[in-house]
Amino acid sequence: MKVGVIGTGYVGLVTGACLATIGHTVVCMDNNEAKIQRLRQGVMPIYEPGLEELVAAAVAAGHLVFTTEMAETVRPSDVVFITVGTPSRPDGSPDLSAVRAVARAIGSHLDGRFRVIVNKSTVPVGSGNWVRMLVEDGANLAAATARSSHHTGNGVAVLAPAEEPNFSVASNPEFLREGSAVWDTFNPDRIVIGAEDARAVEVMRQLYAHWVSPAEANTQAVPMVVTDLASAEMIKYAANAFLATKISFINEIANICERVGADVTRIAEAIGLDKRIGRSFLNAGAGWGGSCFPKDVSALVSTAAEYGHECQLLKATLSVNDHQRQVVIEKLQRELRILKGRTVALWGLAFKPHTDDIRCAPALAVAEHLLNLGCRVVAHDPVVTAHQVQGQLPDLQVAAGALAAVQGADALLVMTEWPEYAQVNLGVVAAALRQPIVIDARNCLDAQAVQGAGLRYVGIGR
Ligand code: UDX
Repeated sequence: MKVGVIGTGYVGLVTGACLATIGHTVVCMDNNEAKIQRLRQGVMPIYEPGLEELVAAAVAAGHLVFTTEMAETVRPSDVVFITVGTPSRPDGSPDLSAVRAVARAIGSHLDGRFRVIVNKSTVPVGSGNWVRMLVEDGANLAAATARSSHHTGNGVAVLAPAEEPNFSVASNPEFLREGSAVWDTFNPDRIVIGAEDARAVEVMRQLYAHWVSPAEANTQAVPMVVTDLASAEMIKYAANAFLATKISFINEIANICERVGADVTRIAEAIGLDKRIGRSFLNAGAGWGGSCFPKDVSALVSTAAEYGHECQLLKATLSVNDHQRQVVIEKLQRELRILKGRTVALWGLAFKPHTDDIRCAPALAVAEHLLNLGCRVVAHDPVVTAHQVQGQLPDLQVAAGALAAVQGADALLVMTEWPEYAQVNLGVVAAALRQPIVIDARNCLDAQAVQGAGLRYVGIGR
């Protein structure tokens, strides 16, 4: 099939590259000229394992091209994806200006050939109808402009039958995680399609046939959940809100564990064996961050408020998460007493390992707090660069290596569980630290090994 993808951010680029890999012909569009130029040269705008190779292969096979032209993206396509950003506004509601502009622009390039316009950006519940309206507006405006340039009539805009835009709007939320986005796209748990009519469902079924009706008899088909538009939009929010709540739940349990002398890692292991609960997303730590959970939970709370419902549970999910940063600071305070004038080595800036993304990273929030308290903070991250954090935290020092960060520090604070931190020579760390204190805010180090090196180990909830 022919696919257009508008917006080459995380979701758009990964979706486009994966659909091209399974044999569709994909045009990826972005209005950022420089980004498209770099993509044409094979340079990825994001760090995502496997993506560069996938893009290179799809381009070489002639299945993937990049453009800045809307017409080249919409005209040839059977399916047009909207995958532009919906960043949070200061009040927590999403900024939909990019979706608005793109939906109108798509409308202006439609004709009588049937197309499915698929929203993959995470938009508030109810946006499917709004997208339909904007696409129609775009189509009407284009038709009126075309007519007025041809003849001057009485100004009444009536579409000729041949120009009638023929489209259907669908919602197809993504569930991919940064750092394993390519793997997640190829190995989905489910494919969710919210649609207005059976025609759109049929097109989407063909698009995703690779997963929902695999050719090989021994390959398990991925369930395709077909719903109305609003339910599909809600599924995305509900999934993220549930996962965020699961993490806040285990962090709450961790805080109780500390007080009663229990070990949260053993609790997570044991309750996780209950199939109704499941082990994943039960790692207590410094809380969740990233580009999705904070934005989506806040957006759901704000949508609910718009419709007259107060989200008590989800507000608690957010506040437990905020508090968890404070828990980390308090641990340092307990160990060092006075924080002013101390040097803290901080390992890990990314919001989680295997990504260079620092959006809403707990590490940055904690670093900022420590700087405000008068600490010197010397950070290290295997991927995040000094340049990336400069704008946000100009006083944060970034060391070239994990051991360099520790040199002469009063304590080591681990904020992101990069696997390399578990491999560092603890004897060298012990010799480099001024005081033998390790706060493991991700429970990712071997507590016994840390203690064996003569260091004091402080984890979360244990
Ligand atoms: C998430 C969802 O998993 C994905 O389905 C959705 O499409 C986008 O949001 P992502 O933000 O990439 O993906 O990261 P994820 O791996 O889910 O981690 C989110 C945050 O939760 C990270 O800050 C991570 O450190 C934290 N986390 C995760 C925990 O603190 N404990 C856990 O047990 C799991």
